[in-house]
Amino acid sequence: MPFVGKNISMKSRLPTVLLVAVLSVLLLVTPTSHSQGPRDVEQRINALLAQMTLEEKLGQLQQLDGEGNGSFRPEHVELVRKGLLGSTLNVRGAQRTNQLQRVAMNESRLKIPVLFGFDTIHGYRTIFPIPLGEASSWDPSLAERSAAVAAQEANNVGLRWTFAPMVDIARDPRWGRITEGAGEDPFLGAAFARARVRGFQGNDYGAADKILACAKHFAAYGAAEGGRDYNTTDLSENTLREIYLPPFKAAVEAGVGTLMSSFNAINGVPASANAFTLTKVLRDEWKFDGFVVSDYTSVRELINHGIAANEEEAAAAALNAGVDMEMVSRSYNQFGPQLLKQNKLSNATIDEAVRRILRIKFRLGLFDRPYTDEAREPTSLLRPDSIRLAREIAGRSMVLLKNDRETLPLNKNVGSIAVIGPLADDRRAPLGWWAGDGKEENTIAPLAGIKAKVTPQTKVGYAKGCDVVGDSTAGFQEAVALAKTSDVAIVFVGEIHDMVGEAASRATLDLPGRQMELVQAIHATGKPTVVVLVNGRPLSVRWIVNNVPAIFESWMGGTQSGHAIADILFGDVNPGGKLPVTVPRAVGQVPIYYNHMNTGRPPEAQNRYTSKYYDLPWTPLFPFGYGLSYTRFKISNLQLSAPRIGAGGKLTVTVEVENTGRRAGDEVVQLYIRDLVATMTRPVKELKGFQRVSLQPGEKRRVEFVLGSEHLGFWNREMRYVVEPGEFSVMVGANSVDVLEAKFNVN
Ligand code: NOJ
Repeated sequence: MPFVGKNISMKSRLPTVLLVAVLSVLLLVTPTSHSQGPRDVEQRINALLAQMTLEEKLGQLQQLDGEGNGSFRPEHVELVRKGLLGSTLNVRGAQRTNQLQRVAMNESRLKIPVLFGFDTIHGYRTIFPIPLGEASSWDPSLAERSAAVAAQEANNVGLRWTFAPMVDIARDPRWGRITEGAGEDPFLGAAFARARVRGFQGNDYGAADKILACAKHFAAYGAAEGGRDYNTTDLSENTLREIYLPPFKAAVEAGVGTLMSSFNAINGVPASANAFTLTKVLRDEWKFDGFVVSDYTSVRELINHGIAANEEEAAAAALNAGVDMEMVSRSYNQFGPQLLKQNKLSNATIDEAVRRILRIKFRLGLFDRPYTDEAREPTSLLRPDSIRLAREIAGRSMVLLKNDRETLPLNKNVGSIAVIGPLADDRRAPLGWWAGDGKEENTIAPLAGIKAKVTPQTKVGYAKGCDVVGDSTAGFQEAVALAKTSDVAIVFVGEIHDMVGEAASRATLDLPGRQMELVQAIHATGKPTVVVLVNGRPLSVRWIVNNVPAIFESWMGGTQSGHAIADILFGDVNPGGKLPVTVPRAVGQVPIYYNHMNTGRPPEAQNRYTSKYYDLPWTPLFPFGYGLSYTRFKISNLQLSAPRIGAGGKLTVTVEVENTGRRAGDEVVQLYIRDLVATMTRPVKELKGFQRVSLQPGEKRRVEFVLGSEHLGFWNREMRYVVEPGEFSVMVGANSVDVLEAKFNVN
């Protein structure tokens, strides 16, 4: 007892000794919560493990899917009663989850609670912008707040676990799942990963309004060849460690309780059987002590990958590599016993997987608070403060891409507005692909948002023009006529929810269907035209960028999307979002990302024999970090605290940012570095700092960044993280292209 000082007499020590004794007894008998000491949890796990049969242990490793309507399946009841089902996905609703939980707690032998999981990605009922949109805010605190609302709603419908955040870096906009992550950059991605984990889990994921998070898809799922979902990946360990792993590491450091192993193979070894990522990196290097769940049937799919001849081999490969829980396929359960007999699986491996799962169940407080208060469910969804937050976040997530001649913001008294396009009155698209239990009837379409915003005298007409998917131009005439008789036309084009997300890779990045022709027809009327993009991935809308004066990226903005769009169109909110991805001019430029390596022949316009395209410029349509405002900013006076620092030293970088326009607004100040000469090729730019700053007209502020070895190093040829001496460039600006530059040395 080191806290009992030597100079304290026995008499005065007695109460302390007693207190400690009482506390120790209490700790052993009181309910477990996250705040309970780890030793006590481990003791309780040991006690359970000692009693569990092999079948019960394998049961904890099994997760099964519910019915399409959120109900559990009749079979689940029987399995839970026998202790053969540790977790479900998609089963939700306080009443239903309680019903199944009662079977576990009252009728099963060991009373181990069921863990209910669901894809609560960007909201449960109150839907926030798609994560790619939210990342465009460059304000991770918003993601923390939206995840907290998602957690609160999900918890109240009986869920304890979300399969989020999705932290895959995506350098390929063809990949539909780019919509679910924070874009192409590991530094921005890590910041959003941390924030989302904090938002879902808080300090204690066992708390009443929190849920357990799951960083997915581990790993390199975003590097799928051709942008084709589920496809294989092939990348160097450097790229894996420097680009794809940092957001996962950040999630682990933020305390994420679980990870999901991905569908793809990494350099020939499927991620769901990859001992390098699942054990060496995750357990040995990062010291992760939660559990890993496979993606949906990804254990059985090891057969298709060709590394297992049958399900038995698949089970051994996945469990031995470090996948603890199997989602949907049942290879562990079916083949575990015989694998054990054949010594292809050890008792220790099974026990360790069970231990990891039980540990999380204890930390969740599930053993002591297995049920959900059914009375709270109805009042917990779509609370007014949640809806307000959804509107605020959507507004901060949208990106103004072009605004010639100050076309925007529009005057609320404009006279007459033509609201045109297939997405103008669509309430499904703004919810995005993973829409939780979000509902169209709770969603504001752009048309409704605009109508609610303008003065009563303003005439708002609507014409759909065409569908997103399809070949008909029958509606063009009506749309053109409407535009001709209006003062301004706002055209909503983009993608439907079904075109993004899982299994929605696209081979082109054009506007689908006849939408581009619709925009051209409206533009040809000569009326001032604004294009609002509603989409889940970057789109190569070259013609629009070259011809239409005002373009604004609304992404898929969630429940309050229509209001948020109107807030920006009419100037109640000044847009401040910036692109978290590079937008290509054409799909043929893909992969195109700002933090690429240099080549021996960097592009030069006048020199044929340099790295570029014959038929298009090499530069993107919009660079990473780009976005405009209704005001103007000036970034100046870049200063470094020293011309040189030691390898472990720190460098302070400051700039001034000033709002030189007439409206209050936000600028995202971005800091990039480049290691100019190193033993490996290094990216031409790497984001290492950013701050979103709000400034009144005329206001000037100093922004400070501190760089240290965690920013300056890289994985060298021996796969060691090193900061090499030499010259570095530091660049600060309002996007990844327009930057001020200074140099410093590392000794
Ligand atoms: C498959 C998806 O890849 C994953 O992200 C999701 O969590 C699971 N299905 C469960 O719905």
